Amino acid sequence: MRRKLVVGNWKLNGNLARNKALLGEVRVGGFVEGVDIAVCPPFPYLQQAGDVLSGSGVLLGAQDVSAYQEGAYTGEVSGPMLVDLGCSYAIVGHSERRSLFGETDSRVASKVGAALAAGLTPIVCVGESHSQREHGEAEQVVAAQLESIVAAIDIKLLDRLVVAYEPVWAIGTGLTATPEQAQSMHVFIRRCLGRSGVDSDGVRILYGGSVNAGNAVQLFNEKDIDGALVGGASLVFDGFKAICEAASKASL
Ligand code: PGA
Repeated sequence: MRRKLVVGNWKLNGNLARNKALLGEVRVGGFVEGVDIAVCPPFPYLQQAGDVLSGSGVLLGAQDVSAYQEGAYTGEVSGPMLVDLGCSYAIVGHSERRSLFGETDSRVASKVGAALAAGLTPIVCVGESHSQREHGEAEQVVAAQLESIVAAIDIKLLDRLVVAYEPVWAIGTGLTATPEQAQSMHVFIRRCLGRSGVDSDGVRILYGGSVNAGNAVQLFNEKDIDGALVGGASLVFDGFKAICEAASKASL
C-alpha cells in the first residue's frame, strides 16, 4: 500500500517570527502515525525550518529547484543546495510557476531531472485550467504535461516521482474537485505513467486545490488519492494538523 503524504506549500508567506510560531506547533504536533508529512517554506527560511523540525519526523521540501547544478545562474537555487539544507522534496512545475513565471513543460522536465540527480523527490504538479476542463481537454492537458517528463528522463528513475494533481481552477479558490473527479484523474495519471513504462503502482499521486479540514477525509478515502499538496490551509496549524490526521485515519 502506498504511504500517504501531506505536504504544506507555504508559497510566498511567512517571516522569521511567524515561522517560529508555526514551525514550533508543527514540530510538537505535526507528526502523525503512518503518514509522511512535509512543509515547504520559502527558500530563505529552509534553514530555520530545518533547525526547528530536526528530529521531529516532519520532512522539509522546497517550492522550486533550479534546472542547473552550479555556476553563473544568478538567483537560482540548486538541488544540491537544497539537500545541503536538509530538504527531501522539491515541488516542481506548480501552476503558479507555469502561468506567472513562464515555466514550460520542457523546463519543468529539466527541473525534475535536476531534483532526481540531487537525490530529492520531485513533487511534479500537473493540472488543467477551468476552460480546458469545460472544453473536455483536462486529460489531454495532463497527459501532455506528464509526457514531456517521461520523454526527458530515464524511466527507471521515475518510480521515485510524486505527482500532484492540482486543477488550476481549484487552487486558492475554495473550489475543490469532487473526490470522484480527483479519483478519476488520478487513475488516468497512473495509467499514463504505466503505459510509458513507469512502475506506477508505487507512485504517490497527491491532490491539491483548496484542500481543508472539511474535505480531506472524503478525498483521502479515494483509492488513488495518496495525500495532498496543501496551500492556504497549511499556514494555520490546526487546519494542517486535521488534514494530516485525516490522512492517518484513511491509512488504517
Ligand atoms: P490551496 O493551494 O490549497 O491554497 O488551494 C494548493 C497549491 O497551490 O499547492
